[in-house]
Amino acid sequence: MLAKRPPMGFNTWNTFGGDINEEIIFKTADKMVELGLRDAGYEYLVIDDCWSEMERDPATDRLVPDHIKFPHGMKYVADYVHSKGLKFGMYSDAGVYTCAMYPASFDREYLDAKTFAEWGADYLKYDYGNKPDDIRGDVLYRRMALALRQSGRDIVFSACQWGCDEPHQWIRSAGADLYRSTGDILDSFESMKKIALSQIDKLCCAGPGLWNDTDMLTVGMHGNGNVGRGGCTDMEYRTEFALWCMIQSPLMIGADLRKLDETSLALLKNPHLIRINQDEDGRPPYVLHGAVDEENFTLCKLLTDNEIAILMVNLTERTIKMRFLMEDMGIPVHTRLGLAMTDAYTGENLGVKREIFFKDIAPHDSACYLCRIK
Ligand code: GLA
Repeated sequence: MLAKRPPMGFNTWNTFGGDINEEIIFKTADKMVELGLRDAGYEYLVIDDCWSEMERDPATDRLVPDHIKFPHGMKYVADYVHSKGLKFGMYSDAGVYTCAMYPASFDREYLDAKTFAEWGADYLKYDYGNKPDDIRGDVLYRRMALALRQSGRDIVFSACQWGCDEPHQWIRSAGADLYRSTGDILDSFESMKKIALSQIDKLCCAGPGLWNDTDMLTVGMHGNGNVGRGGCTDMEYRTEFALWCMIQSPLMIGADLRKLDETSLALLKNPHLIRINQDEDGRPPYVLHGAVDEENFTLCKLLTDNEIAILMVNLTERTIKMRFLMEDMGIPVHTRLGLAMTDAYTGENLGVKREIFFKDIAPHDSACYLCRIK
């Protein structure tokens, strides 16, 4: 199993779009180490769309890295990324062209998988743009899954079909390690909210070996870059990060690491939240309280070693006195048991609470706790 836990890393798309090059990748790799992100678990550095020439090599039929963006080729880039103790990710697409109209892997799956393996790729994001109409998507993903297995290298297979064709029903059997379940995220609260709410009824469709990818994080973008759309407040980024951690999405940073602010960096490195995301059991959370259409809800996730994570989320425009009953978690009042609670955002120990827990949660805010039965 290549993805026992949700992959963590960085992807170029949210900030750089097509404006990528060797220097940006090298600098990002340096920053992942310098900022302590690698040591916090962010290991994959993934190059997204727009990395290649517009034509394949006529002699070999292989994809060719853009000679201006990547003058020394991709193996050179991968070697640098590996030298930093990181893993290297590439991008292609199941269609004839990528979403940005660069050549893609349809009918060249085995050749391209071999090329990526020779370059030293450890991860492949595989998009769904410009897919031929006459062949089913599941067949195309199966092809690349097998091609990667044949490539001679362990390459995590990150399927990216935006939730089209009900991927949670078939993508595991096709051989992917994670699957994009939503359209593209933009750096705005509304976009994050829409994505989060769209997955609340599919929380059970993720676990060790197959993760529900709710797209790259926008934490720390503050409206800048390719998907920058007004940005979010620090509080909204915290809600996004906690949600992605609870629902076990891959944690792929999208902000420009050369300019990352301290608050966002601390959030991305929050050890309690990362522990929730990376918990080895990989059990999905359940909705403990609240109706999804009310846009405020509480998620509960059983962790290893008898810990329980709880996330209360208020995506509405008004402050809400949120509450949950321990009875609903499986702790009846007659047991006289309660929860020893630690605030996952601050690390503060809140002592033991019993029966019912209340908290006023401001619009767009959330509260997250690590608990043990006491
Ligand atoms: C699609 C994907 C994005 C990104 C772009 C690149 O829109 O969903 O994540 O990879 O293509 O063109």
